[in-house]
Amino acid sequence: MDRRVTKILESRPTLEGAGVRLKRAFGHPEVPQLDPFLLLDDFRSNNPRDYLAGFPWHPHRGIETVTYIIEGVVEHGDSMGNTGKIHSGDVQWMTAGSGIIHQEMPKRIDGMMQGFQLWVNLPSAKKMIEPRYRDVTERMIPEVQVSKGVRVKVIAGTLNGLEGPTKDLIVDTEYLDVKMDPREEFIHSTKKGYKVFAYIFEGKGFFIPGKETGVQNVILFEDGEKVKIRSGEDGMRFLLISGKPIGEPVSWHGPIVMNRHSELMQAYQEMEDGTFLRARKNLEEE
Ligand code: FE2
Repeated sequence: MDRRVTKILESRPTLEGAGVRLKRAFGHPEVPQLDPFLLLDDFRSNNPRDYLAGFPWHPHRGIETVTYIIEGVVEHGDSMGNTGKIHSGDVQWMTAGSGIIHQEMPKRIDGMMQGFQLWVNLPSAKKMIEPRYRDVTERMIPEVQVSKGVRVKVIAGTLNGLEGPTKDLIVDTEYLDVKMDPREEFIHSTKKGYKVFAYIFEGKGFFIPGKETGVQNVILFEDGEKVKIRSGEDGMRFLLISGKPIGEPVSWHGPIVMNRHSELMQAYQEMEDGTFLRARKNLEEE
């Protein structure tokens, strides 16, 4: 059975970090509709003033953040002494687990800055695991030619036998970047019981027969075996993401997402006391 669309959410202008103007596709108010996903931010601008302030030092606990840069460069550094750059086409899949403090700073280059950050929740048993990073470069991401006019980058999951580079994820997630030429069709099977959504970032298309949807909209599907999508007159590019719901209570404040309010209070208390970081010893041992 095809998955029908249950809801279309319009992204909303949001000011984040030290003053970054971005579009929030979904976030806190939508919990638990997109479980296991918590948030999707879309930063796209050709004006450096919209993004150069960046996201200076801030903590995370209890989640994973997945940063996918379509165009531009983001420099990052963290409390474990890691530093690096995420370039166009690269993905950083970060498991904050018990806690990290990091910064994410977009850099000025010619042209447009565009990227996404997705927050994947962690189940209670994994919220306090040791932090880890997966740095995925563009070269590592397979592109599958599904049909003549449909190409899909597989960031996570498997498509036509090609597996994306981010494997053994804590929450089973499929993360696809789908590019469709004008008036094409894409039929994609999805796992039963999994949450599936699309986010359009170029062009328009039909997720509901006869109703065209454009950029910066989240399309949320009900359960079923597959999705059937058609592109409009100018083609379309969108993220197609699915994940296994966690089904646990969510207690969320700022960059910390736990199950209970007491765990949230504890995290903020630890930040005040300077005991927030469990993985700090990596840095001290060096
Ligand atoms: Fe962050």
